[in-house]
Amino acid sequence: MIQVAVVGAGHWGPNLINNFERSSRSEVRYVVDRDAKRLAAVAERFPSVETCADFDRAVDDAGVDAVVIATPTSTHFDLARRALEAGKHVLVEKPLTDSVESSRALCELAEARGLTLMVGHVFVYNAAARRVRQFIEDDELGRIYYISMVRTNLGPIRTDVNAAWDLAAHDISLASYWLDAWPTQVSATGGQFINPGIDDVVFATLRFPGGILANLHASWLNPRKSRDITVVGEKKMLTFDDVNLDAPLRLHDKQVEDSESGGAALVDSFHSFRTSVHLGEVFEPRVEPSEPLRNECEHFLDCLTESAIPVSPGRSGLAVVQVLGAISTSLAEGGREVEVEIG
Ligand SMILES: NC(=O)c1ccc[n+]([C@@H]2O[C@H](COP(=O)([O-])OP(=O)(O)OC[C@H]3O[C@@H](n4cnc5c(N)ncnc54)[C@H](O)[C@@H]3O)[C@@H](O)[C@H]2O)c1
Repeated sequence: MIQVAVVGAGHWGPNLINNFERSSRSEVRYVVDRDAKRLAAVAERFPSVETCADFDRAVDDAGVDAVVIATPTSTHFDLARRALEAGKHVLVEKPLTDSVESSRALCELAEARGLTLMVGHVFVYNAAARRVRQFIEDDELGRIYYISMVRTNLGPIRTDVNAAWDLAAHDISLASYWLDAWPTQVSATGGQFINPGIDDVVFATLRFPGGILANLHASWLNPRKSRDITVVGEKKMLTFDDVNLDAPLRLHDKQVEDSESGGAALVDSFHSFRTSVHLGEVFEPRVEPSEPLRNECEHFLDCLTESAIPVSPGRSGLAVVQVLGAISTSLAEGGREVEVEIG
């Protein structure tokens, strides 16, 4: 049994505690939180788990194999570094840390110690997202033109990172997973309304190799909970609505065709437009129900028990942070297009 210490029992931490508790390969030995009320709630729900406010007690326990970090982003680096230095494998919630330098330092530390460092890019463990990657790999959509990603909700409002670092981290990891590439340039604009210095809404455009564009709208200041993604390809188009659990994917057999008059770009009437677009069937691919976070936690255990290679290793966390860093630079410089350095 892999012995796990979970640090952070706020909104998200209990989901991780639950998954490591119900796995047949792990048990949660400690839950650490600074807040006594959070610890009391954990003790009531998971009576067999030891709760404490002292991180050192958990991290210095030789019986603990792995530390799972679900605290605010600004605390990830210190906690993960101390856990790696104590010889523990580490799963850190997204984003890996709040800076490129600290993310790189964690990757190097884990590599030097031969420890697993994984980041919780949960969407790469989502069955519908995996199906999308399969469609792209199988050339079902043809050449990809662009991706549009909307991730909005009312709250939770963060005070340590902006909406891009909190929300778009998911979309950056997802777009890169689908396209098997990282963006080369980004530009972004945002708005700060609630807390000075922190963007509540960010609109970012990412340029990927091959001229592929991705547009991201991330906000915690929006009345609608949306996880709404569109992938537009030359042959087909696809929509992914993660809020619609029954039918998250729709594959649209729609495209613009070359007209006999020399190309769709030359259409000069509604009639010729109608004849130059192909409006085929809309197909709802079946996605086997599975819990993405459970898949992520089980995969982390695979890495520890079967030497599996993480699908979301520390290095992918670093790359996402490098893209987020470039978004922050662009935000600070009025939307200037900024080069992204990966590696
Ligand atoms: N993968 C996802 O879909 C997803 C969803 C929500 C949150 N998250 C991530 O999970 C992390 C936590 O988010 P949340 O919404 O649960 O935040 P939260 O503010 O609700 O909870 C954070 C908890 O950490 C505790 N804490 C803070 N500093 C600590 C420290 N140094 N030592 C011990 N405990 C400490 C706080 O008391 C609090 O209980 C963030 O990194 C966030 O990005 C991921």
